[in-house]
Amino acid sequence: MNISTHAVQMGLEWDTRTGAVTVPIYQTATFRHPGLGQSTGYDYSRSGNPTRQALESGMARLDGAARGFAYASGMAAITNLLLLFKSGDHLIVTEDLYGGTCRLFDKIFVQYGLTFSYVDTTDMAAIAAALLPSTKAIFVETLTNPLLKFADLRAISALCKMNNLLLIADNTFLTPYLLRPLELGADIAVYSATKYLAGHNDTVAGVVTVKDPVLAETVYFHQNSVGAVLGPQDSWLTTRGIKTLAIRLDRQQENAGRIAQWLAAHPRITRVYYPGLKDHPNHDLMSRDARGFCAMISFEVDSHELVEHILMKTELISFAESLGGVESLITFPEAQTHADIPPAQRARLGINNVLLRLSVGIEDCDDLIEDLRQALEE
Ligand SMILES: Cc1ncc(COP(=O)(O)O)c(C=O)c1O
Repeated sequence: MNISTHAVQMGLEWDTRTGAVTVPIYQTATFRHPGLGQSTGYDYSRSGNPTRQALESGMARLDGAARGFAYASGMAAITNLLLLFKSGDHLIVTEDLYGGTCRLFDKIFVQYGLTFSYVDTTDMAAIAAALLPSTKAIFVETLTNPLLKFADLRAISALCKMNNLLLIADNTFLTPYLLRPLELGADIAVYSATKYLAGHNDTVAGVVTVKDPVLAETVYFHQNSVGAVLGPQDSWLTTRGIKTLAIRLDRQQENAGRIAQWLAAHPRITRVYYPGLKDHPNHDLMSRDARGFCAMISFEVDSHELVEHILMKTELISFAESLGGVESLITFPEAQTHADIPPAQRARLGINNVLLRLSVGIEDCDDLIEDLRQALEE
C-alpha cells in the first residue's frame, strides 16, 4: 500500500466496537483493571493511551518502523532520544541545525557530559574527519533548516554501520511522504509533528519512529519514565492532520516550485535556496532519494532594510515562526528560529541579516505571488 493510503487510513481500525471511522479521543488519565493482575492493555495514559497509540502505530507504519512514539513537542522527542547516551559520549550533528535543537545540545546536554561536533553532513569527508573514539551517533536533519541542504543518508548510514554508530534523522521537513529515512539506513527518525505532519498550525507535537524492536523498547522505557507524552486531543489533531499529508504536500510543493522560480527572476532577490531548482547543489541527489523537494524556500534580498519591509507588508503570508502548515508563513531566521546559534557559526553558515525563510502553504499560488510582488515594492 502507498504512503498516502496508509496516511488516510490512520486510526480507522482502532474502534472495532462501534466502527468509528476516526479514532475516538480517549480523554482519560487512567483505566479500570478487569481484575487483580489483569489489564485491558491500558493502565495509565502516560504509559499508553489508545488515541496516542493510533498515532504512534500509524507513524510506525508510515516509516516502516518497529514502533512509534508521540511526545508533547518535537523538542521533547529529541530530548528523549538524547537519553540514549551517557556522559562522555560524542555526537556528530548537522551544522545548520534548527536553533532550538542546537540550544538543547549546547546549553543543556553539555552539562551532562555529552559533546557535539557540528559538521556539514552533505560532506562525507567532513563527517569522517569528525569521528572520535567516543562518537556514538550521527544526528542529521534530512533537509536542513534554513539552508535546505540534503544529505546522502545511504552513505552516512554505511559509515555509521562501519563504526557502530546510531543514525538519527530529523525528518521534520520531508515527512515519510517525501523520504523514509529508515529505508535509507537510519535507525531512528524524529519529527516536529507541529509542522507538515499535523499540518494546520494548530498543535505542537513530536514523533519518534524506531526501526529495531529492542532499541524501541528502551525508547519506550524513556518515554514512560520521563512522561513528556502527547495528550489525547493533540494526538487526535495530529492523526487528523496526517490523513491529508500527501494532498497538502503535493499542493504546497507545486506552489513552492512556481514561487522559487518567480523569486529567482526578481531583481531584488540575490539568492534563492530551493532544492527543486536545478542549480541547487543537492538537486540530483534529492531527485534520486526523495519523492519531492518540500515547500520551504529560503532567499536573500538585496538589503537588510528590505527584510523588515517585506515582513511588515506581506498580507496573505503571515510573519510568524513555524512552518509546514496550510497557511503560508515567513520568518527571519537570524533573529528568530536560529537566534540561539552562536553568531560566528551563523555567519559562517550564511544565516545572515538578508535571509528570509518562506513556508509555502496551500493558498492559490497566484495570490501568494501577488502578495510577494507588492511586498517587494518600496
Ligand atoms: C527541524 C526541526 N526539528 C525540531 C523542531 C522542534 O519542534 P517543536 O517546535 O515541535 O518542539 C523544529 C521546530 O521548528 C524543527 O524545525
